Amino acid sequence: MHVVVPKPLHTIGQHASGLVANLAEILAVGEALERALALLQAGDVVAIPTETVYGLAGDATNGVAVARIFEAKGRPRFNPLIAHVADRAMADRIAGFDPLSARLAEAFWPGPLTLVLPQRADNGIHPLVTAGLDTIALRMPRGFGGELIARLGRALAAPSANSSGKISGTTAQAVAADLGDRIKLVVDGGATLVGLESTILKVEHGKLRLLRPGGIGAEEIEAVAGAKLVRGAAGIEAPGMLASHYAPGAAMRLNVEKIAEGEALLAFGGKRAWGWEQAVALRNLSERGDLREAASNLFAAMQALDRSGATTIAVEPIPFEGLGEAINDRLARAAAPRGKTG
Ligand code: TXA
Ligand code: MG
Repeated sequence: MHVVVPKPLHTIGQHASGLVANLAEILAVGEALERALALLQAGDVVAIPTETVYGLAGDATNGVAVARIFEAKGRPRFNPLIAHVADRAMADRIAGFDPLSARLAEAFWPGPLTLVLPQRADNGIHPLVTAGLDTIALRMPRGFGGELIARLGRALAAPSANSSGKISGTTAQAVAADLGDRIKLVVDGGATLVGLESTILKVEHGKLRLLRPGGIGAEEIEAVAGAKLVRGAAGIEAPGMLASHYAPGAAMRLNVEKIAEGEALLAFGGKRAWGWEQAVALRNLSERGDLREAASNLFAAMQALDRSGATTIAVEPIPFEGLGEAINDRLARAAAPRGKTG
């Protein structure tokens, strides 16, 4: 007699490759474009090859798609993601280029270079991509990714295609073994050329800072820039140091069951905290209690309540499952004592 053991859906961190059925379709780059496009247009995510590592891509203007990226990676934290563009014109609509960044883009794009730049207002990029920062990391990938983005006509947010705590996937098979039960499509472009992530640079007060070493060596960059790279922790925007960026001007009070006078309310689900009618402003992250929807609304809702002028934002309890962990992580950071530099 055969005993069929059902596999739990969305089990996180227990993927022994070979033991878990991989449901994702794997299509070669030559035959994947239309299918990848359709999934992205529907707000879904697709694993795509780039010259550095495989990326887990979603439409950067669609908050739900971006939330799905974090969800598929598992044990999510909303680190800012790189937005991938098809050409300089698309990049210019999203961010402002200082002359040095423009020179670096000219020299290294398309290629394994990411530039952190000031965002333009109303660029359509969902705030979950940048974790609410006013800067954005931009990169123009080579090959299939570039073609896909050009056809979509919108930037793709894409972190490395690996579940949290695993190394970045550099073959379609590695990506499918890791994420295959959580995504629908892996586009197979063979082993990636670079195999490690892009170099991340930011021009700060006229100096060129190396935020992450990667696919292009420092010497090559320095030759083009005509200046030395600045290294070290100062000013680095590593995910763990972003606390102050998430913090609104108002104080935050979490897991609130009763609203105090003068507070704004950040709600979740269908049941309101006691005294909610008195809230000076109200935003519901997801009326139907959907954590994915809540994640995609989080930064915008916090910003809106902050603008209401309330001195305190009261936050209803949010469950810790799924994306709730990341939402609670970000709320805890926002509620943390102020004064840290980020
Ligand atoms: O090669 C790569 O860069 C790959 C491929 C898929 O493009 N992507 C990648 O993404 O490595 P990810 O999400 O694993 O790493 C993005 C890095 C993070 O360390 C994040 O902190 C940093 O970029 N980052 C993103 N936006 C930033 C910003 N506005 N300021 C500073 N750092 C930022
Ligand atoms: Mg990564």
